[in-house]
Amino acid sequence: MLGPVILAASRSDRMRRLISAAPVTKQVVDRFIPGETVDDIVPIVQELTGKGLELTMDVVGEDITTPEQASAARDAYLELIERIAPLGLGDKVEMSVKLSMFGQALDGGHELALANVRPVVEAAAAIGTTVTLDAEDHTTLDSMFAIHEELRKDFPQTGCVIQAYLFRTEADARRLADAGSRVRLVKGAYKEPAEVAYQQKHEIDKAYVRVLRILMEGEGYPMIGSHDPRLISIAQELARRAGRKLDEYEFQMLYGIRGEEHLRLAAEGHRMRVYTAYGTDWYGYFMRRLAEKPANLRFFARSMVSK
Ligand code: FDA
Repeated sequence: MLGPVILAASRSDRMRRLISAAPVTKQVVDRFIPGETVDDIVPIVQELTGKGLELTMDVVGEDITTPEQASAARDAYLELIERIAPLGLGDKVEMSVKLSMFGQALDGGHELALANVRPVVEAAAAIGTTVTLDAEDHTTLDSMFAIHEELRKDFPQTGCVIQAYLFRTEADARRLADAGSRVRLVKGAYKEPAEVAYQQKHEIDKAYVRVLRILMEGEGYPMIGSHDPRLISIAQELARRAGRKLDEYEFQMLYGIRGEEHLRLAAEGHRMRVYTAYGTDWYGYFMRRLAEKPANLRFFARSMVSK
């Protein structure tokens, strides 16, 4: 029951101010967000790719309130791309972006977010990689899918995320499972009402399998975003039944969660991509990680008390 409370707090400005200013031990935040600057993150990119892992990079931040912040978000990604270009890693390191960080919720936000994300997609393509649009709360998704469709006209490899907990997702998966598409399926990390989303874990897990089957049997490239051991073996079985080779789908997990499993899947020959977040505006991202696992909250609370 703690999860929904933490998710509500993740959208509260008051809680953001309180927690961001609290003496949170660096260790707790670092587990999920291993750096604040590009200088911090480039060695981590080198270390993880050196272990045979692939990455999708997230400059943390969301729900910005001014066009200047949206431009700064765009520039942060451009700087990152410029810094990793000499490493020559191509699509081993792609980008994940949240359109709310690119201005989607501001006046004229749809156009603004598209205008801000396009140069990032162009810069990524210029170094042989691509961008995936993260899925945020359900009210933002029609705009996200429209931006995705627009970007795909010039950059067909642009990916997007769909969330198994939403009732709409099976239909979205059918629409998106076309040749050349790249779709990451996740369970969903936002607090959504019962009118639009399954609320029970077993219902979400069943929906995940239904949607995954659509993606695996489709013509696109499925990206399985989950740490759930049951879903990972089901994914392997569905891929086998669909006749997919190891490089015709990939697993994705978050930095700091089940790290041994990242290495195990990579050693088995799977493409294993680690979602690696960095930056200073870590509050929303961090709170969603706490909400996913109450044990994280106990660890976090202990670290605050022991300060
Ligand atoms: P589940 O929550 O059932 O966890 C399975 C097991 O994984 C747990 O038993 C535990 O061992 C471990 N685990 C999971 N979360 C943990 C945590 N926070 N701390 C410690 N252990 C944990 N969501 C979204 O709405 N939009 C998006 O764009 C994305 N993007 C995204 C990218 C990638 C690569 C991943 C892996 C996930 C996302 N998510 C997301 C988050 C996703 O919706 C979901 O909240 C988390 O992945 C947790 O769900 P699992 O599928 O891992 O299962």
